[in-house]
Amino acid sequence: MITCPGVTPQVIRFHYDLSTLFYRFLWGPHIHHGFWEGNESPRTAQLKLTETLAARAAIEPGSRALDIGCGMGGSAIHLARHRQCRVTGVTISPVQRSWASLSARWHGVGGQVDFMCADAEAVDFPADTADVVWSIECTEHLFDKPRFFERVADWLRPGGRVAICAWLAGPDMGEGQHRAAVEKVCEGFFCPSLGSMDDYRDWMERAGLVVETSEDWTSQVLRTWEICDRRVRRSGVRWVARLIDRDTVMFFDRFQTILDAYRSGAMQYGCLVARKPD
Ligand SMILES: C[S@@+](CC[C@H](N)C(=O)[O-])C[C@H]1O[C@@H](n2cnc3c(N)ncnc32)[C@H](O)[C@@H]1O
Repeated sequence: MITCPGVTPQVIRFHYDLSTLFYRFLWGPHIHHGFWEGNESPRTAQLKLTETLAARAAIEPGSRALDIGCGMGGSAIHLARHRQCRVTGVTISPVQRSWASLSARWHGVGGQVDFMCADAEAVDFPADTADVVWSIECTEHLFDKPRFFERVADWLRPGGRVAICAWLAGPDMGEGQHRAAVEKVCEGFFCPSLGSMDDYRDWMERAGLVVETSEDWTSQVLRTWEICDRRVRRSGVRWVARLIDRDTVMFFDRFQTILDAYRSGAMQYGCLVARKPD
């Protein structure tokens, strides 16, 4: 696992409070990669990633889901509208919580979803109650990832599944350029650490879960950063960021770093699904 000691929960919260507006206007209501199989629009590709994860996790209509790191509520609202799920979303950002609640009401699913502002590493839910624990691109920000999966295993009912997408450290780290690239990504995107696919499988298995899916989606998602980098350059948003703080400028400047890290194999993008045994 690659670590970045300078990141704190306060820095992560501040980043999402501040940059949610940028994410919304540069990318859309989902703060996650797109999944491309052809020439889909970015919006379609984002929905395809959500739907592909839902399919891998075999989410049944009416499931009770927890969305850990729910952003602006994109996944929670989608699962409520298209799979009739009842969803509780958790975000560390109070701005995102308010945004997600308003958005759910706007989309007519306010009665099916609720959102909490809480730290996923401290929040608790009753044992054996969730059909699905869903988390797209949040575990990167967690400090104790093995412990998180133990808690997930506790929340899941027997037979329930955890479904995640995560930025991963590549399989060959060593001490050279790959490691340096991943460290720069962690610093620029406020991740205290990045685990590899093997790390995630290991954490899930040690929590008593049975891994059903562990897929490398890097080649399907990396167009995300080509598009985002182009949009940042064209929109002039970096100049706005300069009026705010250095961290936000660094965040935009690292878009090319993550694209290079995916292309070189220093990083991967993973989809993992694991089941709590009956
Ligand atoms: C890259 S965004 C993904 C958002 C959402 N899953 C989506 O796909 O649109 C990361 C999310 O994780 C949340 N997050 C980061 N650290 C967290 C923590 N310790 N507890 C709860 N949420 C956290 C952020 O607030 C943000 O909503």
